[in-house]
Amino acid sequence: MNTHPQHIAIIMDGNGRWAKKRLMPRTVGHARGAANVRQIVKAAHAVGLRYLTLFAFSSENWRRPPDEVSALMGLFLQYLESEVAEMKAAGIRLRVIGDRSAFAPLLQSRIDQAERDTAHNTGLNLTIAANYGGQWDVLTAVRAWQAAQPDRSLQELDPAALAKHLSTADLPDPELLIRTGGESRISNFLLWQTAYTELYFTDLHWPDFDDAALAKALQWYGQRVRRFGRTDEQVQHSSAAEHSPTPNLVIQKGIKIG
Ligand code: FPP
Repeated sequence: MNTHPQHIAIIMDGNGRWAKKRLMPRTVGHARGAANVRQIVKAAHAVGLRYLTLFAFSSENWRRPPDEVSALMGLFLQYLESEVAEMKAAGIRLRVIGDRSAFAPLLQSRIDQAERDTAHNTGLNLTIAANYGGQWDVLTAVRAWQAAQPDRSLQELDPAALAKHLSTADLPDPELLIRTGGESRISNFLLWQTAYTELYFTDLHWPDFDDAALAKALQWYGQRVRRFGRTDEQVQHSSAAEHSPTPNLVIQKGIKIG
């Protein structure tokens, strides 16, 4: 049995289908999705979760029709403008990961301000991934590592050093990833960070993913056995402190087993 995870990541899929089923425009589905972000952040805070990371806009979502992209940008801006005061009061710390340079200057400045205003909060760490891609994150980290120490060879780069340059450097890896909307894929989300994450897929569309659905996902997680490459027997005889991927990266005859 696992205890509650400290970090949950969510791919909030199914807004468009939620709206289509109700003969409404896709943008209405996104608006309902944004309202549900508020609800699930509250629920996560209430259960004492430490980290919640939400995939709001992928680096591939620019390919959507321009009116949908602009509706999503509008919802993000509106979310920042309406929620940050409450986050400040509730002790929630907001971070945004992804390449924000592509956003309108007003949105960029609201993001910067929201991060600054909540930087000292010590409750739930809410991270919104916007114009984010897992491949971008890894490549950017490799380049940043090299730029920080131009004299060192890439042969010296190891997983721990790379992780320090990821956009999630201040966050632990998620123990649980939830994807709503019935698809079973990662879609270029936290590729590096989910190496050992438990993956939970539900057919519920994001606007329908409520507190009870979150509780069900947590219950499912509680029953997973996390082996990190070991056998069941090894896991049963090891202490909780050993339940991390790191001690498992043993080198045998030059082969890394993870
Ligand atoms: C996927 O549903 C969802 C998105 C691409 C955007 C997620 C955005 C929100 C939940 C609202 C805005 C976010 C914040 C933080 C305020 P989809 O459109 O791919 O649905 P479909 O697969 O049914 O078409």
